[in-house]
Amino acid sequence: MKVIESVAEMEAGRAGMAGSVGLVPTMGFLHEGHLSLVRRARAGNEHVVVSIFVNPTQFGPGEDYDRYPRDADRDLQLLEAAGADFVFMPRHWREMYPPGFDDWVEVRGPLVLRLEGAARPGHFRGVTTVVARLFRIVRPHRAYFGQKDAQQVRVIRQMVREQGLPVEIVPMPTVREPDGLAMSSRNVYLSPEERQSALVLPRALELARKMVLEWGLRDADLVRESLEDYLRQKPQVQVEYISIADEETLEELHHSIERPALVLLAARVGATRLIDNTLLVPEGVEVPEGLHQIIEDIKAGMREHGGTGP
Ligand code: PAJ
Repeated sequence: MKVIESVAEMEAGRAGMAGSVGLVPTMGFLHEGHLSLVRRARAGNEHVVVSIFVNPTQFGPGEDYDRYPRDADRDLQLLEAAGADFVFMPRHWREMYPPGFDDWVEVRGPLVLRLEGAARPGHFRGVTTVVARLFRIVRPHRAYFGQKDAQQVRVIRQMVREQGLPVEIVPMPTVREPDGLAMSSRNVYLSPEERQSALVLPRALELARKMVLEWGLRDADLVRESLEDYLRQKPQVQVEYISIADEETLEELHHSIERPALVLLAARVGATRLIDNTLLVPEGVEVPEGLHQIIEDIKAGMREHGGTGP
């Protein structure tokens, strides 16, 4: 495994690669969620590049850029074991944003204005800018992203379409701790008590799955209100949003769920902001091409995790 610290070296390394290239962009402090992406990239490509870059432009003022957790040595050991060929970790943020940098890549429209886009102004502009730059440097055939950040995957898809970049975006299911908490680099911020309180997020998602998939309810407003009631009973958790949205456009659903839907949650537990989501495909609802693999993976994940939804 080769560690590369400059854009010039990465471009030179890429020039020497024949065959397909898979890219897994990360901000490091890796966990099983990240590694599941790397393993999938390993299985599907001749070359696997993982980037580690805590991207300053996607953090808002007062967010956790300065204290974002880092452990490069541990990350490199994990990546070696997961089969990465190249780790691109720019030695300084100036590598990615040279003086005079003005290549901002931004998508517009409802997809970036809601949910994370509303809660974190400028966040997606930072994400699409850095991911577009990574795509131009690494020129991957495929790039792997987690459904944990469901809106991010959709924003990146739109960016790729609009920029006409020749890369396939591969979404991957959320990897969870055995008790259901979605893995996140930010989970280290949680005290043991907060860690326990945070479990209401996956439990609320589980409740939504029950209501729609087991009890056959189709009323999005009713499901949303039930989750509001459920989460209101937990004073340690400050809910930012509860959304039941069209899986593709992320437009809020009211009344009947007739298409695959995402339930998306954002909440603060103490000072830590967490997000989580689950995909609902009610029976009798047609599954769009491209979602089949995700649904199979979710079912497999549910079996592994004793019934906790994705
Ligand atoms: P980061 O939070 O490090 O996540 C890197 C990738 O891992 C993202 O695609 C994310 O969705 C995925 N991931 C995180 N937790 C996961 C989990 N529990 N299960 C499955 N996948 C998971 O997302 C970013 O970095 C940045 O925004 C980035 C895309 C690198 C741009 O800076």
